[in-house]
Amino acid sequence: MNPTETPRIIRVTETASTNQYLREYLQTEKLPEGSAVVASFQLAGRGQAGNSWESAPGCNLLFSTLLYPNFIPANRQFIISQITSLSVSDTLSQYTDHITIKWPNDIYWKEKKICGILIENDLTGQYIYSSIQGIGININQTEFQSNAPNPVSLKQITGNTYKLDEMLDQFLQRFYRYYIELLQEKDQEVHNKYMRHLFRGTGYHPFREGDRTFEAHIQAIEPTGHLILKEKNGTTHRYAFKEVHFIL
Ligand code: BTN
Repeated sequence: MNPTETPRIIRVTETASTNQYLREYLQTEKLPEGSAVVASFQLAGRGQAGNSWESAPGCNLLFSTLLYPNFIPANRQFIISQITSLSVSDTLSQYTDHITIKWPNDIYWKEKKICGILIENDLTGQYIYSSIQGIGININQTEFQSNAPNPVSLKQITGNTYKLDEMLDQFLQRFYRYYIELLQEKDQEVHNKYMRHLFRGTGYHPFREGDRTFEAHIQAIEPTGHLILKEKNGTTHRYAFKEVHFIL
């Protein structure tokens, strides 16, 4: 991070998607690393795998942050997911127990999803030129309409209402700190912490691969982001995102 350039926080009342807003903004003007776009409402909030992201107006944190991690090789881009997930899980863990990171980068409270992350990297050759981290954290919403299977908000968990700006500040402080750790080549420490916070990180749990269901434990997650599962009979398998599903 360039210490001479202060990150900018751009606030918008309404936009299609903060990821899209930030990407379009960058086409005309460069923003300092660490800058963020925050919206009260998204007209077309995007989730992983072409899903939409539901968030009632003014209730939740909807934002996208910007990095220029040109020291990270393209095949190591999963480390950005890890620092983003850890920054959210550290922030939420200030307010409630039972926050975990569901591989690759959903944030869960118990068996429910409290935050979704959509990372979009722009590569130049073998390295990342720019990276946008789109983050939706369910904070004060009390009812969810869409068919998302298991949403939950911090307010539903604790009964309290939270100030969104304070939560964003807390996230950003942590996020910048983790990013500096990457600049200092402390990837292994970051990864170890990610592994300690994993959803179903210990023991055997049910998974589904196509039509096959099986019990396995998480043996490792590779720097590429592949999940290594070990079954009770000793066989191991390696999965990319979406090739295997947790059975909830
Ligand atoms: C998921 O499907 O789990 C990812 C959801 C990501 C939602 C956030 S909200 C802010 C940013 N803008 C978007 O359009 N999506 C991300």
